[in-house]
Amino acid sequence: MSLQLGDTAPDFKAKTTIGEIDFYDYIGDNWALLFSHPSDYTPVCTTELGKTASLKSEFDKRGVKVLALSVDKLEDHLGWVNDINETQNVEVNFPIIADEDRKVSEAYGMIHPNASATATVRSVFIIGPDKKVKLTLTYPASTGRNFQEILRVIDSLQLTANYSVATPANWVEGEDVIITPAVKDEEIPAKFPKGHKVIKPYLRTTPQPNL
Ligand code: BEZ
Repeated sequence: MSLQLGDTAPDFKAKTTIGEIDFYDYIGDNWALLFSHPSDYTPVCTTELGKTASLKSEFDKRGVKVLALSVDKLEDHLGWVNDINETQNVEVNFPIIADEDRKVSEAYGMIHPNASATATVRSVFIIGPDKKVKLTLTYPASTGRNFQEILRVIDSLQLTANYSVATPANWVEGEDVIITPAVKDEEIPAKFPKGHKVIKPYLRTTPQPNL
C-alpha cells in the first residue's frame, strides 16, 4: 500500500546529482518536498525541474528542502541538468536522486504499474519536520504540475501546524482563514485578537493570524 497522510516518510540513502545523501540527514529539521518525474530528457519534466529551480527563494523562505527523483542513471541526470539550465534559464539548485534500483520509488509508491511498468509517475510528497507525510499528490506523465499550488499548500500546512485554523478553497497567503471547530466561541477573542466573523456556527473566519 502506498504512503498515506500521517505515515512516517521512509528514510533512505541515495545517489544524487550532489553526491550520496542520507535523506533524514539531508533534510534535518526542515520541511521537505520530494517529487518524482517519469524520465530525463523529456519535455514536461524539463519545464517542471526548471520551474522548481526558479522558485528556490520561495522554498528557502519557507524552510523547505527540495529533492527530485527518477529511475534514470546519475550520468543522465547530470547531462540533462545542462539542458534544463540552458532551456529554462536557471541553475538547477536541488539534488536529483538517481533511483536506478527503484528502492526509493518503491518505498514511496511512485511507480504505478498500470500507468507505466518502469517509470515513476509525477508524485509529490511534502514531509514535515517531524518526518511525517503531510501531503501527497499524483499527476500523470502528460500533465506538468503547478508549483505555485505546491507553495500554496506549504503555506497552508505551515500555518495550520501552528494555529487552530484551516484554509478555505483557493486560499492564498494573506486571505482570511477558518477557525477550526475545536475552538469554542468563548475562546476566540483571546486566540484570535484580530477579530472574527461568524457566518454560520460552524463557519467562523478570522484574519490570517501570523501576519
Ligand atoms: C514529459 O516529461 O514530457 C513526459 C515524460 C514521460 C511521458 C510523457 C511526457
